[in-house]
Amino acid sequence: MTLLVTWNTSDPATETFRSEDPAAIRSRLAGLGVRYDQWPTRELADDADQDAVLAAYADEVARISGEENFTTVDVARLKNTGQPDFAATARAAREKFLNEHTHDDDEVRFFVEGTGTFYLHIDDTVSAIFCERGDLVSVPEGATHWFDMGTADPQFCAIRFFHDGQGWVGDFTGDPISATFPTHDELAASRGGK
Ligand SMILES: [Fe+2]
Repeated sequence: MTLLVTWNTSDPATETFRSEDPAAIRSRLAGLGVRYDQWPTRELADDADQDAVLAAYADEVARISGEENFTTVDVARLKNTGQPDFAATARAAREKFLNEHTHDDDEVRFFVEGTGTFYLHIDDTVSAIFCERGDLVSVPEGATHWFDMGTADPQFCAIRFFHDGQGWVGDFTGDPISATFPTHDELAASRGGK
């Protein structure tokens, strides 16, 4: 089940909100300008490539692309198939966006499989959106945030949507805030009902 937790930036030890209810999460995130949705999930082969993933969600991808005017859609996948360098690859992938940053485009992700947590830092609040299979999240352009896929099981597959196919990069703020909040692994361990 998806999880939303919030804190005041000055007190990472004290949660100010926690919910695993999708409707409550959607409502709360809408107030921050963040789109949150859940799509019906589809079974995919272990070796499903980008075309197969996009074909499985073709209706949803077409609908949201039309609504939001996305021009580019692709699939990012980190999967442990026993490759000897997987641990190093996963570590590098995790560290890439673990520090607070912004983008000049919305960061829109649909989780086909696996998990990951977006942390949004808006005003004096940090909101952690723990995503899993079936979750769609859109972090607005310019919103300060970071992303943690964890170290315990850093595997995921996500459909990514872009308004601008030209170099989607992170603009890092230099604020060390991300190091002071619970990690994705810690949030995973805190969930109920699993
Ligand atoms: Fe980002």
